Amino acid sequence: MFQIRPFDAPLGAEVIDIDLGKPLAAADYERMINAFHDHSLLVFRDQDITPEQHIAFSKRLGELQVHIQSTYHLPGYPEIYSISNVVDENGKPIGLADAGKVWHTDLSYVTQPSRCSLLHALEVPHDDSGKPLGDTLFASTIRAYEALPDATKRRLVGLKAMHSYMHIFDKITAMKRVGAANLVPLTEEQKKKVPDVMHPVVITHPYTRKKILFVNEGITVSIAGLPQAEGAALLQELVDHAHKPEFVYRHSWRAGDLLMWDNFSTQHLAMHDYALPRRRRMRRTTVQGSTPVYDPLPT
Ligand code: OGA
Ligand code: MN
Repeated sequence: MFQIRPFDAPLGAEVIDIDLGKPLAAADYERMINAFHDHSLLVFRDQDITPEQHIAFSKRLGELQVHIQSTYHLPGYPEIYSISNVVDENGKPIGLADAGKVWHTDLSYVTQPSRCSLLHALEVPHDDSGKPLGDTLFASTIRAYEALPDATKRRLVGLKAMHSYMHIFDKITAMKRVGAANLVPLTEEQKKKVPDVMHPVVITHPYTRKKILFVNEGITVSIAGLPQAEGAALLQELVDHAHKPEFVYRHSWRAGDLLMWDNFSTQHLAMHDYALPRRRRMRRTTVQGSTPVYDPLPT
């Protein structure tokens, strides 16, 4: 019987005494999912699982999404996206080194964004004193919505925003930070697969019905239906608000951690504060969610 220990933070809980390599009984799965919806992020420590087991556990949550950066699919496993600064013996990157350099929500640029992502750490960089590097920050988009002034909440009703893969691609490519830069330009055919999409600025969580501020710095380009300058100022205000420190949990990784986060009720940012020879190697699956809608329960 596993334990659920909530963090003293705006989101997140650790699940203790669970082996994700073994199938979960229906009642345990139910308890895990309820905790997931309550806390938006679950941390499973010491998971020694194969790609097959990672995929099998992820598939219980829904259909898996295949990332457009196909160069970094784990060989033989298109559902697993390899995130790493490591290069092979020929100097070829084994994964995307640039992941998450700006605040974002995974796959908010598709019509059915991710319900959740599951990221498994195989190698974690450390500084000379043994302190882990390459933390990941998660902000609660529920807390962010709740903290907005009432006048702003009223202003957001009915507004939609445009989300674009090319927007985050260009932002990350333009950044010069510590570590490798290895995003691969998309072919024309790949670009056609990720057209810009519109989502409501405020959405209702598909399971908890809580209201969510669904814009992010990396992927959201513009707010529709407002004069250009007004829309741009509002978007900037919202994306800056969304990751204020009071909404954030910061995860320090250990090898063997598997993090499962809700892409509706959180957004995240990776700290790129390490470089080779300090190695970081992670594997991610992404579970498809529903089309975001604003559909609150009648009050
Ligand atoms: C991701 C991501 C952040 C990290 O896997 O979606 O943004 O810390 N990664 O690797
Ligand atoms: Mn991400």
